[in-house]
Amino acid sequence: MDYDFMDVLITREQIQARVGELGAQISADYSGRDLTVVGILKGSVLFMADLIRAISMPLTIDFMAVTSYGSSTTSSGNVRILKDLDMNVAGRHLLIVEDIIDSGLTMQYLLRNLAARGVASLRVCTLFDKAERRLVDIHADYTGFVIPNGFVVGYGLDYNQLYRNLPDIGILHPEIYTKAGE
Ligand code: IMP
Ligand code: MG
Repeated sequence: MDYDFMDVLITREQIQARVGELGAQISADYSGRDLTVVGILKGSVLFMADLIRAISMPLTIDFMAVTSYGSSTTSSGNVRILKDLDMNVAGRHLLIVEDIIDSGLTMQYLLRNLAARGVASLRVCTLFDKAERRLVDIHADYTGFVIPNGFVVGYGLDYNQLYRNLPDIGILHPEIYTKAGE
């Protein structure tokens, strides 16, 4: 694929190596517990698919879809559930799997919402963390990569629903989203 719209930041090989490490860590930490891995649609689907195969213990999976109103490259914190979990998660150990934490507003909403369901424990695994941009005090328990400011796409992450299928992670050239009228 021609990558003239972005600079590669993290290669597919680097992602796979880090996902393997995260899976091993999670397997060790959750040994003997009822783990449910909750993927946040749609950005986490590729990460989720690889991560659960790197976890070597029984688990169940479920998904939630949320949206936050805002511009196409920033979130507003007005989060709304588009698809809720199928399962009743009371008493279960939940691990939220997210593509990226930016302002932290989406994750703050998810943590509050899921904590209110009587879960045994609640932790967060994010592939990317744009720590510099945080507006609220939210931390992931497992982080793939801390990355600099800039809009990243690929491996599930989109800009206007495009680029999710790229196997590598790239920083989108700013003219791609500035010319769209941001
Ligand atoms: P937050 O609420 O600002 O933390 O934003 C979280 C959500 O915004 C993520 O789940 C992504 O869907 C989206 N997002 C934030 N930064 C990026 C990025 O650089 N690329 C793609 N999506 C992003
Ligand atoms: Mg997302």
